[in-house]
Amino acid sequence: MHHNPALYLLHRRLLEQVDFQKRILCIGAGYVGGPTMAVIADKCPQYRIELVDVNPERIRQWNSDNLPIYEPGLDEIVFRNRGRNLFFSTEVARGIEESDIIFVSVNTPTKTFGQGSGQAANLEYVEAVARLILKHAKTDKIIVEKSTVPVRTAQALQRILASGASPLHFEVLSNPEFLAEGTAIPDLLAPDRILVGCMETESGHKACDQLSAIYENWVPKDRILRTNVWSSELSKLTANAFLAQRVSSINSISALCEKTGANVHEVARAIGKDSRIGSKFLQAGAGFGGSCFRKDILNLVYICRSQGLTEAADYWEQVVRINEWQQDRFVLNMVAEMFNTVANKTLTVFGFAFKADTGDTRDSPAIRICQALLEERAQLRIVDPKALPYVESDLGTLKGVTLCQDPYEAVAGSHAIALLTGWKQFAELDYRRIYNAMEKPAFLFDGRNLLDHGALFEMGFNVYPIGEKPLRHF
Ligand code: NAD
Ligand code: UDX
Repeated sequence: MHHNPALYLLHRRLLEQVDFQKRILCIGAGYVGGPTMAVIADKCPQYRIELVDVNPERIRQWNSDNLPIYEPGLDEIVFRNRGRNLFFSTEVARGIEESDIIFVSVNTPTKTFGQGSGQAANLEYVEAVARLILKHAKTDKIIVEKSTVPVRTAQALQRILASGASPLHFEVLSNPEFLAEGTAIPDLLAPDRILVGCMETESGHKACDQLSAIYENWVPKDRILRTNVWSSELSKLTANAFLAQRVSSINSISALCEKTGANVHEVARAIGKDSRIGSKFLQAGAGFGGSCFRKDILNLVYICRSQGLTEAADYWEQVVRINEWQQDRFVLNMVAEMFNTVANKTLTVFGFAFKADTGDTRDSPAIRICQALLEERAQLRIVDPKALPYVESDLGTLKGVTLCQDPYEAVAGSHAIALLTGWKQFAELDYRRIYNAMEKPAFLFDGRNLLDHGALFEMGFNVYPIGEKPLRHF
């Protein structure tokens, strides 16, 4: 839309003359900032929304026809609002100067160095943003923590923002994001709840009103929850820990099902009917992935440990351990079933993204599983509709790996298929054709329980679901 930068600037300056009711800035144009701001822009034409990022390539993509992230429904919303009340730029300082409300949506990855390495959250980007705001602000601001942060981060931000000689008032709110990738747009359009945490002061409550007013443009008021700022911060870590815990719980039961002849679907259905347990998020599989669960639980573990709560820390850490075990179990089972060797066998991997409908591979179970198979000297052919560009950097190599667009080409001469991502496309393939093209005996390990196992068995496959009896021809 804005291929000519001069025209774009002129267009933007003209739009600045328009009397927008609020000027909202989001620092960090990633998986959370991008979709969240696009939806606010769509629902609130009376506000001007700008996203800024230090990564110029990401901003260039947000301003192009090829957005930097894949999310169903996102393109449409961005294309219809971009240049109207939704803008993307690298000018962080100007953005700060011109805005009233600033969402902080930068990354908070696990620390990889120093104290808490491998567990604690790395808060350097969040802190850097507070310092930038202090440096460039010329008017009072409301600062909204959108990033997932350890409990009490708002206090650190507030202290940094109050540290200068500036007479300005900065009010820090917590407003964690609960969207899941792949369904970000529907999640944002109809959230289960919006959580706003504020300092328990008059200015805190006033800022809370202002932030709630944004969401009230499309979210029913009774879904907007107010808490104190610490509860809000901790609720985000807790929500992810509980969700991941459900997955690890059912995965641990899946292992027991495989040993005993119980069927994990039947067990999940039976327990899910109990309204206290509920039926969602009980799908056994090759483990959870994604940029949040592991990182946020480990952060929770670190916080518990640093508060001297060893038992609480150990309890939550086990959720992550079970998840790693589930992935390792998957590989051990493959090797054992394929006569204890996969060396020089061609194995086709269906899916590399951490879940369907996203190109995101952060912490994807496919990474650990593929690395283990490569260590066993298997030859891998990896198929994924969106994630192939990230395979090399995630695995650290392409040695022994072929990237394939076409699943039918990939399976030709393969000894086995390992399905790791629940892309709908994989359920719609012609498995008779696939069976005919494979080496025999043909093995299929369904790490997402996506396929019709009975039908595959009839075709001749040896089929290995998660949490169910394998269907073998021998
Ligand atoms: P991301 O890495 O996709 O995006 C973060 C962006 O911030 C990057 O583009 C980075 O360049 C930018 N950035 C870093 N420092 C900056 C600075 N000083 N100025 C300007 N830009 C800067 O991360 P994400 O997945 O969007 O996650 C962001 C936060 O939201 C994290 O705290 C995460 O835990 C949380 N969260 C993520 C999800 C999810 O599904 N991905 C869901 C809920 C919450
Ligand atoms: C998660 C939370 O759901 C979301 O609220 C939060 O804001 C960010 O973290 P996300 O990681 O994007 O979202 O996806 P999610 O749908 O939660 O799936 C995470 C992983 O768990 C995936 O690898 C998925 O395959 C796995 N999973 C999920 C299961 O194995 N079984 C299930 O029943 C559900």
